[in-house]
Amino acid sequence: MAKDYVVKDITLAGYGRKELDIAETEMPGLMALREKYGKDKPLSGARIVGSLHMTIQTAVLIETLTALGADVRWASCNIFSTQDHAAAAVAEAGVPVFAVKGQTLVEHWDYLDRSFMFEDGPNLILDDGGDATLYILLGARVEAGEEDLIAVPTSEEEQAIFDQIRKRMKETPGWFGRMRDQIKGVSEETTTGVHRLYDLKKKGQLPFPAINVNDSVTKSKFDNKYGCKESLVDGIRRATDTMMAGKVAVVCGYGDVGKGSAASLRGAGARVKVTEVDPICALQAAMDGFEVVLLEDVIDSADIFITTTGNRDVIRIEHMRAMKDMAIVGNIGHFDNEIQVASLKNHKWTNIKDQVDMIEMPSGNRIILLSEGRLLNLGNATGHPSFVMSASFTNQVLAQIELWRNGGEYENDVYILPKHLDEMVAALHLEKIGAKLTKLDPEQAAYIGVAPEGPFKPEHYRY
Ligand code: NAI
Repeated sequence: MAKDYVVKDITLAGYGRKELDIAETEMPGLMALREKYGKDKPLSGARIVGSLHMTIQTAVLIETLTALGADVRWASCNIFSTQDHAAAAVAEAGVPVFAVKGQTLVEHWDYLDRSFMFEDGPNLILDDGGDATLYILLGARVEAGEEDLIAVPTSEEEQAIFDQIRKRMKETPGWFGRMRDQIKGVSEETTTGVHRLYDLKKKGQLPFPAINVNDSVTKSKFDNKYGCKESLVDGIRRATDTMMAGKVAVVCGYGDVGKGSAASLRGAGARVKVTEVDPICALQAAMDGFEVVLLEDVIDSADIFITTTGNRDVIRIEHMRAMKDMAIVGNIGHFDNEIQVASLKNHKWTNIKDQVDMIEMPSGNRIILLSEGRLLNLGNATGHPSFVMSASFTNQVLAQIELWRNGGEYENDVYILPKHLDEMVAALHLEKIGAKLTKLDPEQAAYIGVAPEGPFKPEHYRY
């Protein structure tokens, strides 16, 4: 039988398996779900297509989904984020995975397409950044004549997705519409993908229910923040070995990822400045002790520039031209358009090593660009540690179970998991770090107006 996976090197599976075994010891939430649901297999019959960074932590997520009875096929959501030994371990265990670190954009969409190729097609999507959802919904609109294939491509990225859609339409007419109609729902991992879902809902183009995993408190207030706190500096160090202490670093954006990123750089000894557009986040940054500046005012003096906004064109060509020699430029937001990388294409590039390039500006000054502007903590390092990803992925598994069991009861809207599940995810992670939870007595519970077993906060509480 032809092999049903694409990985860099299947002989890396043994190494991947050893790291997976270690990761399991740091992912108590996922292991508790295996324990709790392993017998009942609540995901029996679910055919899940996953599009999420193919790392060691994701491998533990995949094997939790299969332990709960799901059939799973997987692609990475980013061309640089795969850990090839993780992909090999998953493939060797029999889950079709299509992911190679350093794959091209054309391969990216081809691999995503392959991850949909269950015999009867998938019925659930687990997405990170929304590419799997976009592929099906855009394809279905093109198929229905609602979107003009010829007029749209404006970038290499868009060209690649439209080429793949065209190919699939030719090979399997009507395929996108069929896929769209049999998907029961999607659970979405990240801020950027969640933006896309609310936008689809607003335009009346969301054809199935969606669960916004990102805005579970135990996701965005932990992974986006404490995750980046560990993995941002890890990425910069592995890429450049630069001395961080004493350097001036600028963090663009002070949302959850920005807060973790600024803390990461400060922890390494850098002098950190922040840019923001939202006065609330700007005030938070200032009161956390960071100088809040305009990018233009620090552009020729800072050493390290990191974008965390999920917005486009934050560091533009005129900024990069004004930077001092050997400034380090990187992004930790979901897409590479935070930095105008496309406008650097006609400059002189010198590749230093994988995912590290030196680019010469007209003035003769050079910048060091990390992961071609794609999220550097996954491109230059290995992403967040297992423990914090356990909280994120426990939410993912709960969302998949909910969509599979009760998806039919939801409207085509975007939902957040209920607070008692959020609190449960946190509770599952306390013992591992030796945290002991105080119990409310009934009088105290009544006094603050909650049940002794929770939920402990009203919906409007912000943490
Ligand atoms: P967020 O919405 O909490 O924060 C973004 C912040 O950027 C906001 O406070 C916003 O006001 C600010 N901002 C927007 N435009 C700006 C501009 N032009 N200049 C300065 N500030 C600006 O979003 P969150 O959760 O922090 O996510 C940010 C990005 O990171 C998203 O793309 C998300 O998908 C991604 N992400 C990446 C992770 C990783 O491991 N690399 C982990 C989690 C999220």
